[in-house]
Amino acid sequence: MCGIIAYKGTRKAADILLDGLKRLEYRGYDSCGMAIISNNRIETKKDVGRIAEVDKKLNFLKMNGNIGVSHTRWSTTGSVTQINSHPHLSCDRKIAVVHNGVIENYTELKKELVKKGHKFTSETDTEVIAHLIEEDSSFERACLKTFKKIQGRNAFVAMNDKGEMVVAKNGSPLVIGIGSNEYFVASDAPAFIKHTRKIIFVEDGELISLGNAKDQEIRFIDTRYSKDLKKRIQEIEWNVEEAQKGKYPHFLIKEIMDQKKTIMAAATQDYDKIEKIADMINESFGSFLIACGTAGHAALASSYFFSKIANKHINHMVASEFQSHYHFLTDKSLVIAISQSGETADVLEAVKKAKTKSAKIVGIVNVPGSSLARQSNYAFMTNAGPEIAVCSTKAYTSQLSVALLLAYAAAGKMDEGVALLKQTANLVDNMLNQDLQNKTKQLAKKLADKDHIYVLGKGFNYPTSLETALKIKEVSYIHAEGFASGELKHGVIALIEKDTPCIVIVANDDTKQDVLTAALEVKSRGGYIIGISPENNEIFDYWLKVPDAGNASPIVNTIPSQLLAYYLSIERGCDPDYCRNLAKAVTVL
Ligand code: M6R
Repeated sequence: MCGIIAYKGTRKAADILLDGLKRLEYRGYDSCGMAIISNNRIETKKDVGRIAEVDKKLNFLKMNGNIGVSHTRWSTTGSVTQINSHPHLSCDRKIAVVHNGVIENYTELKKELVKKGHKFTSETDTEVIAHLIEEDSSFERACLKTFKKIQGRNAFVAMNDKGEMVVAKNGSPLVIGIGSNEYFVASDAPAFIKHTRKIIFVEDGELISLGNAKDQEIRFIDTRYSKDLKKRIQEIEWNVEEAQKGKYPHFLIKEIMDQKKTIMAAATQDYDKIEKIADMINESFGSFLIACGTAGHAALASSYFFSKIANKHINHMVASEFQSHYHFLTDKSLVIAISQSGETADVLEAVKKAKTKSAKIVGIVNVPGSSLARQSNYAFMTNAGPEIAVCSTKAYTSQLSVALLLAYAAAGKMDEGVALLKQTANLVDNMLNQDLQNKTKQLAKKLADKDHIYVLGKGFNYPTSLETALKIKEVSYIHAEGFASGELKHGVIALIEKDTPCIVIVANDDTKQDVLTAALEVKSRGGYIIGISPENNEIFDYWLKVPDAGNASPIVNTIPSQLLAYYLSIERGCDPDYCRNLAKAVTVL
């Protein structure tokens, strides 16, 4: 995944692009670059490194001009080098391109172009776009032909030295911001919401022409039917502050603390719509919950909610495995897809497959207007606000909250569900206090030099154990694994040595005794037991107190581990916002 921001208007483009790039850095950060039209020629600066480093070296703001494209890269095709960084140029350097995605047929296209005499400078697939566009003297027509030729999930913005700019999308997200006499194009709206909240989402197969330098006309073309489109301008509600760190040193801790408010926001839904979906859930047959990563853990937790609260079986599946199971779907099936970004390629692909079987799609999604929100028959917004840190925290507890509401509604106990969530929102607000932060910080100091951390949970909190381990892995790079506590005796116990840290999630429910028994087995082999629980227990060597939230226990029980992961990353000198090798939304299959 990469981040694109482009600007065409009357202001200094470099100011807007540099600020936008910094806001998109979570999408990729191995290299970055910018191309700006200045004195009728395209000036380009790009290099390897984080945006601040590259800017310090190259000084982007020295570039003058009102039209430009820029990019922050997370390499897929071609290694991380200055040459492979975007933008990429045509042979005559009159066309600049930034791109997100993978061009599946680029080797064939490159061969043809080389035969025609094009000189390639990089190893990237992106560069074929610039050379293909160079093949036709009409810029818009050339972009259209190029878009039709490239295969795979791709989004690009191309501009020429005359100031013509074209945007095209198939698979990877792009959104257009409409200002007064100016346009913004970005992979994600927070890149420009401080300038405008009026946005148009670009759909797959669409190509948008932003005209030449003088002509500010915007034109939308549906490339599949070769016809012009009228598009609706929408107003995005997110505000600039939500997408900033504010008083916090990192987005991750800011977003963990945001949970003081976000559970309540998730509980605020259109309850009539929830009831309607609950009826559909009850009438459905052969339904699935699908998602990836952290959202996948929310999907697994949701299957427990539906089973135990509503007595309804819904299969759980990671989205990338769905292709082996979707043939079971019928028009009576419901697919509940969960995604923070709403742009995860594996999830969108699963949704596409489900639609071929006429299954209905319910999306639980955080980013308004995202592909999943648009492709769902019914979409529930989790209302967590922008989540910037690569590691997902507040989106997870919001996903759990919405799923919990749906489960209560499916059980015909909507009021009980709403009351529980509102009470949980208050519990979370109270628990995110200095005391819990100090205790997790102290624990992080103790665990920072460990090679392995294991996590045990059961029932509703088996998914919590998986999510706890994922948080620790992602931001501290300590190997962590979550297990169903009952699995301990089937193999996992072989891993326990003296002082091996083992986090046990002990909820006040029918799983309590089983988890404590497993904890005792670990302890008797010398393990160091960290209990996450409403009550202390003599088995625990370290106790992280959580409130008793009843059926909402997975929401409160995950919060101490988010804090622990954050402080572990600080202790180990990692960057908590930008996890090694990871991108925020994975828009490639
Ligand atoms: O945007 P999504 O919720 O669809 O993203 C799914 C996963 O890629 C995501 O949850 C990932 O696992 C996070 N880095 C977890 O912190």
